[in-house]
Amino acid sequence: MITVKVPATSANVGAGFDALGLALDLFNTVTFELSDKLVIASTDNTPVPTGTDNLVYRAACATFEFCGRPVPAMKILQENPIPMARGLGSSSACIVAGILGANALMGSPLSDREMLHLAAGIEGHPDNVAPALLGGFVASVMDEDAVYSVKKDISEQLAFAAFIPNFPLLTEKSRAVLPKELSYRSAVYNLSRAALATAAFCDGDYELLGVATKDAMHQQYRLPLIPGGEEIFSKAKELGALAVYISGAGPTIMAVVRRSDEAFFASANEWLTRAKEAGKNVGAFEVKHLLAANHGAVVQ
Ligand code: HSE
Repeated sequence: MITVKVPATSANVGAGFDALGLALDLFNTVTFELSDKLVIASTDNTPVPTGTDNLVYRAACATFEFCGRPVPAMKILQENPIPMARGLGSSSACIVAGILGANALMGSPLSDREMLHLAAGIEGHPDNVAPALLGGFVASVMDEDAVYSVKKDISEQLAFAAFIPNFPLLTEKSRAVLPKELSYRSAVYNLSRAALATAAFCDGDYELLGVATKDAMHQQYRLPLIPGGEEIFSKAKELGALAVYISGAGPTIMAVVRRSDEAFFASANEWLTRAKEAGKNVGAFEVKHLLAANHGAVVQ
């Protein structure tokens, strides 16, 4: 039996739309074994498609096909603590698990680079799949079919406060609200900040992240789809977050904080509890304390 463990990921990191992402210490685990018929099931009661439309299975099929091999019947068991449709890379985790599982079942013919290309091709952009595979903070470019990525470990001094709501937001819907064109001014605003965020992660200069994660490309259009999102931005900044951004396509709002800042989590929890009691929009959110995962997906 082959077991694949894949981390959650948080894409965009503010200005780095479809380019930047980082891996977090929350892992989906998927097991694969050859079988006499296709069996797909969840081991933690998370509803998952159990037919050929299952994303782990689809990614596994694409991998067998890429290698020119017939797709064997297999048994796939999924444990999915990464919440679905919350902007924490659950679909990328499924894609990466399917590719790594299929590769392992074939005796590992593929290189890491080939698997990254396959994964980004299926997902359509590399910002979640690259950190899911590589871990840490990853800057990526898709040039035609090729993906070019640089990974940097994230300091243990950082923690990530994921404000996760109880409602989903499909990436498709969150991309549909984006404008078709951008001004030069907005393009410069974002490319300069994405460059600064990358340099800040590479240098460990996390104080720059407040400025470097500001964005003029997607967050303003997406916030109306996230009731309570704006209040979380303000509150997280007021509580001393180094940076706040919409995680991937949302609806999770991510605050980057110093790991030593226990007071941040205590205050945020208290604030959310009071908001819930008062029936406010932010009461739909819970805050989860996460750390960076500097190792990407592993096959055990
Ligand atoms: N970069 C993507 C987006 C991440 O913001 O739409 C979600 O897949």
